[in-house]
Amino acid sequence: MEDLARRIAEADGYVMVSPEYNHSMSPALGHLLNHFGSSLYSWKPSAIATYSAGQWGGARAAVNMRTFLSELGCLPVSAMIHVPKAQEVWDEAGGYAPGVDGARWDGYLGRTFSQLVWWAEAARRQRAEGAAERSAAFTRDPAQRNAP
Ligand SMILES: Cc1cc2nc3c(=O)[nH]c(=O)nc-3n(C[C@H](O)[C@H](O)[C@H](O)COP(=O)(O)O)c2cc1C
Repeated sequence: MEDLARRIAEADGYVMVSPEYNHSMSPALGHLLNHFGSSLYSWKPSAIATYSAGQWGGARAAVNMRTFLSELGCLPVSAMIHVPKAQEVWDEAGGYAPGVDGARWDGYLGRTFSQLVWWAEAARRQRAEGAAERSAAFTRDPAQRNAP
């Protein structure tokens, strides 16, 4: 877990991949993210990528991932990836399944990834230049950020 914490802290951005479980993100992913807390993720962007076996591609999970990831401090970029019937898009080795239009999928995925890279590079520069201006994370109690 310490090794994972270090890798999360070192990253400039995150691709948050989740299946849809009961119209929500994977409980396992939520549990993992909660374990570390916002200080490791904040001031960085994230991209939401969801999938499901059904026709909506995890779009409903993605809606609540936006609020979750925003609270964690790694703001999601506007473009999102949703993969309906994921079992028909990729094969077990991670390549496109026979008959799938891979170039079209690459373009769809690339839109989100290009936004993520743009924001990750911008945020990295800003973290390096404006470290002293960042608002402090609460250190004892969430009440530290209450309105007066
Ligand atoms: C408890 C549970 C809840 C699920 N809820 C949804 C759902 O709300 N919407 C949906 O499209 N698929 C749902 N599914 C189907 C999953 O999207 C599908 O099983 C998917 O393959 C899970 O990804 P995984 O195999 O990587 O865990 C659910 C599956 C399980 C086991």
